[in-house]
Amino acid sequence: MVYGYEFKLPGKVVCREHGAGGLGKPVARMGGTRVLLVTDPGVRNAGLLDPVLSGFGEGGPEVAAIFDGVGQDPDFDTVLHCSEAARRSGADCLIAVGGGSVIDTAKVVLIALQEGDDLTRFRYGEYFPKGPLLPLVAIPTTAGTGSESTHIAMIVDPAETLKVVFHGSGLAPRLALLDASMTLTLPPRLTAATGMDALCHAVESLHSNVAEPVTDGLAVKALELIGGNILRAFHQGDDLEARAGMLVGSNIAGMAAANAYVALIHCLAHAMGARFDVHHGVAVALVLTRGMEHNLRFEGVPAAYRKVARGLGLDVDRDDDQTAACRAIERIRELVADLELPRTLREVGIPRESLEDLAGSAMQDRSFALNPGRTSLEEVLALLEKAY
Ligand SMILES: [Fe+2]
Repeated sequence: MVYGYEFKLPGKVVCREHGAGGLGKPVARMGGTRVLLVTDPGVRNAGLLDPVLSGFGEGGPEVAAIFDGVGQDPDFDTVLHCSEAARRSGADCLIAVGGGSVIDTAKVVLIALQEGDDLTRFRYGEYFPKGPLLPLVAIPTTAGTGSESTHIAMIVDPAETLKVVFHGSGLAPRLALLDASMTLTLPPRLTAATGMDALCHAVESLHSNVAEPVTDGLAVKALELIGGNILRAFHQGDDLEARAGMLVGSNIAGMAAANAYVALIHCLAHAMGARFDVHHGVAVALVLTRGMEHNLRFEGVPAAYRKVARGLGLDVDRDDDQTAACRAIERIRELVADLELPRTLREVGIPRESLEDLAGSAMQDRSFALNPGRTSLEEVLALLEKAY
């Protein structure tokens, strides 16, 4: 067992059916009187703001404004536009309703409101606010990033064509509200992609070189919930129980990954997202099993993947670690196929001649060093060639 680790606890997590409609009181308790709702056009058009809005008014806090300008991969401009909307509306509380992009934007808006518009000073290094940050409530509408319960945000820096990381305990939403009814309308393709992202958070937490007992426990439970519900949620979007399993699974996988971190697989996905606009979950699914195969050579990883196999419900008691690990990889490969996700980089339009650049970008990612073993450019390139 690892003895010697740090685990950052997120804010409060409330998991409640139709909880999105009852935020007036919790916001008032946080001192919020004027709320800025941060979201994206898809969430707004799907009518998902209606239940949230219904919980305000009648003498309590009010919704002062709605900012729906968050896109798939928000950049610094998105953050600055949103913080301007917050200032203009006199908001003293933010509620992010959406997927990871929306929630991450709101987290970095907290920094911009406190520190001004020069965000580049705060990327990478841990952020310690100079004063109290506005309270942030997060309501996920996808079961993917788990960003609603993490202290980390990723934003595209156009100058670097890379996602840059902001992190600090103060960035974790004060309240994460898990209401599975908010995910019922998520289309099958996004259910699959975001779900595989969550599954990958659990896998990368388990093989991380800073994995510890808390992250291991969260990751295995997350795999159980995600593995047991993802196909039902994909085929029957209105299955509330399956949606709830996915939402809780992604939430705790996010907590695991925020503390054990992600590595090679996510580095490749970040590079594909920043350079070719490939959806994060799709990008993760494209390289997940290849990344696991690569990592099998490192000490401790087969044993970690035995935990993946167990989490996914495979009976591996009679298998040695290597066999159990290979069965886990095979199971995930089957899931990617069953979820009808793209299976090659070629299918998502990545040109073959860009593979070396992609490999180079992935290796510049700060998380690359957290992979369980040293990996050369040639090895990353070989992995990408196999995934092509
Ligand atoms: Fe991810």
